Amino acid sequence: MKNVVVIGAQWGDEGKGKVVDILAPFFDLVARYQGGHNAGHTVRIGERKFVLHLIPSGILHDDCQCLIGNGVVIDPHAFNSEIEELRLLGVESQGRLFVSSRAHLILPYHTALDRAREQRLGTNNVGTTLRGIGPAYEDKAARIGLRVGDLLYPDLARDKMRKNIDDANLELSSIGAPLIEAEKCVDEFLNEALQLKPFIRDSSAMINAVVRDGKSVLLEGAQGTMLDVDHGTYPFVTSSSATAGGAATGLGLPPRHITGALGIAKAYTTRVGGGPFPTELLDETGAYLQKRGNEYGASTGRPRRTGWLDAMVVRYSVMLNGLDAIALTKLDVLDDVEEIKVCTAYRCRGELLQDMPYGANVLAECEPVYETMAGWKTKTSGVTEYDDLPAAARDYVSRVEELCGTVVGMISTGPERTETIIRKDLPVAEWMK
Ligand code: GDP
Ligand code: IMO
Ligand code: MG
Repeated sequence: MKNVVVIGAQWGDEGKGKVVDILAPFFDLVARYQGGHNAGHTVRIGERKFVLHLIPSGILHDDCQCLIGNGVVIDPHAFNSEIEELRLLGVESQGRLFVSSRAHLILPYHTALDRAREQRLGTNNVGTTLRGIGPAYEDKAARIGLRVGDLLYPDLARDKMRKNIDDANLELSSIGAPLIEAEKCVDEFLNEALQLKPFIRDSSAMINAVVRDGKSVLLEGAQGTMLDVDHGTYPFVTSSSATAGGAATGLGLPPRHITGALGIAKAYTTRVGGGPFPTELLDETGAYLQKRGNEYGASTGRPRRTGWLDAMVVRYSVMLNGLDAIALTKLDVLDDVEEIKVCTAYRCRGELLQDMPYGANVLAECEPVYETMAGWKTKTSGVTEYDDLPAAARDYVSRVEELCGTVVGMISTGPERTETIIRKDLPVAEWMK
């Protein structure tokens, strides 16, 4: 049995899209288990660039079946647009992409509420992607959400929507935000959403049948461990379970069927939106990493905050997700850096912390304790063999392994599929058999 979960080990945008695209040909099914079109997963193939938001990155391989699980929230307009964009790039999704009947829908009032609430919070806002993600998961937990399967019963869906729009309008009017026109909204929404019908499946039955037949599944996480609603820097998180456990509930896959976990970590750190970020660099080195790493959001285009690698974060991610290995990405971005720092611990209120503290307020007070390593000052971009890396880069990789407590099985040296090192006799190489 080979069912591997791929998880962001930091605050998202670690390069999950690229890694999933590389691994996908070695799996029969690629499944997303949480999040929505807040995600932006980039895959570069030669001159062509694909940015996937809702659809698993496996879709770019003709032989791969793809599944959007019950743990995902779906905006039908975003879904239809993505299918169309892929079609224009020569990728046909119908017939090999399936959507769970139990996945919740993002309705126009979710997006309106997300925007209105963020505006009301002002400078204390979360910095969400304004895609309605949080309000959609709220309705799910409040048991008033609409699910993809409800589209098979349009009259029922219509009634639920009308009731929810009334409630949303009460809140929107109290904030002074524009109200939703109920009938127009319902008609337009259903018109778009009903296009999902051919994709709807009982996805838990489907994935379990795949596993029972001895086939393999790659579970594609979105966001990252530090954005997980339980384990991340709450309240500056997304509203879903991005960590490995979320893959089981978000797909209806028994946890014992998940046989491996791969964490994706950048060789430095980035974060989009608000919230604490102990190793953030607000100086010229931070600006350099942003420019050299092209750190602009794949979904919203916002500049990403940048900083040194935080081994406290990655170590925490190794623990929470049981990572068998890390894929270390964007090593090439550090090629010209004189000295590289890695955070090994935090100093907080006079204490030295070796473990992630509770709460965003405490993390905001933490000062990183750094170890400094010599840069390699040699071009690594495009390197495909570990032994061809300069010694200082190999030292950096070894130190990351020691500090984070797992092996680095894959190293990414550029955005292209081919710009990748797969290290022999380690978990990633094993999964690519
Ligand atoms: P994801 O959300 O985790 O899939 O990551 P994003 O796609 O949002 O952001 C990663 C960005 O880095 C994308 O633009 C990738 O094309 C790019 N990228 C991935 N790996 C590498 C790498 O090793 N080196 C460089 N320079 N860019 C990379
Ligand atoms: P991928 O999958 C980076 C961040 C937002 C915000 C917080 C909550 O590409 O790594 P939300 O709209 O989810 O309610 O916003 O989470 N965020 C991401 N940051 N990469 C992502 O996805 C993200 N998805 C959400 O910036 O801080
Ligand atoms: Mg991204």
